[in-house]
Amino acid sequence: MQPLIEVEGLRYAYPDGTEALRGVKFRMQAGESVALLGSNGSGKTTFLLHMAGLLDGEGSIHIAGERMTAATKPALQQKTGYVFQDSDDQLFMQTVLEDIAFGPLHRGMSPEAALARANELLAQLNIAHLANRAPYHLSAGEKKRAALAGVLAMQPEILIFDEPTTFLDPPGQRELALLLRGLPQAKLIATHDIWFARQVASRAAFFRDGQICGEGSVDDIVQRFDWNLK
Ligand SMILES: Nc1ncnc2c1ncn2[C@@H]1O[C@H](COP(=O)(O)OP(=O)(O)OP(=O)(O)O)[C@@H](O)[C@H]1O
Ligand SMILES: [Mg+2]
Repeated sequence: MQPLIEVEGLRYAYPDGTEALRGVKFRMQAGESVALLGSNGSGKTTFLLHMAGLLDGEGSIHIAGERMTAATKPALQQKTGYVFQDSDDQLFMQTVLEDIAFGPLHRGMSPEAALARANELLAQLNIAHLANRAPYHLSAGEKKRAALAGVLAMQPEILIFDEPTTFLDPPGQRELALLLRGLPQAKLIATHDIWFARQVASRAAFFRDGQICGEGSVDDIVQRFDWNLK
């Protein structure tokens, strides 16, 4: 089966010269959910930004068989949806409903259809009661759901999460895990939360010094890299 994501020799240095990715090789099939584990500064966020076409490194990235280039990037970006670590980076309209409808509207959908889709997502994510609230007044867990609804409104094939449980209380983390388990899209999830990774990921990739140096089940990786609280 053709991989949904295929990355070869991905290297990237930030403008200040910091080498964040040093030759990453990675593959993922449709429907998989992969946890990206590894220490602070090991390159997880930088990798995710490349998958969403938000940074351009050396090497190759294929999404659904198509190589990401300047020409193909706009179309390939529609296949990925990035849920930022801080929901405040994502929510900017006056109300939650408008925020969720914004993407589809911007892509040319009629206002009626965009609002209908936003309302469906509000219901699916159990936040219909927040439709007319201002995003910046919501709790962290509510914001996370609203941001996810906005991403799902664009109907991406790949969902990208950077530290999705930051700011969420334990019930909020449980609810998010359940929600993600119910979503059919492929998922890439950078997290330090091993409990969460076990709940939502079918496997894990371990980052070290800008490379993926191990892959396996979450439990294998935790054991192999002694990646737990003791
Ligand atoms: N904007 C930036 N400019 C310069 N260097 C950066 C920038 N962002 C990240 N880096 C550096 O790139 C490397 C990889 O960082 P990255 O944020 O990808 O790591 P991470 O694995 O996501 O870490 P964390 O677990 O702390 O989120 C680090 O050395 C970091 O200091
Ligand atoms: Mg990070």
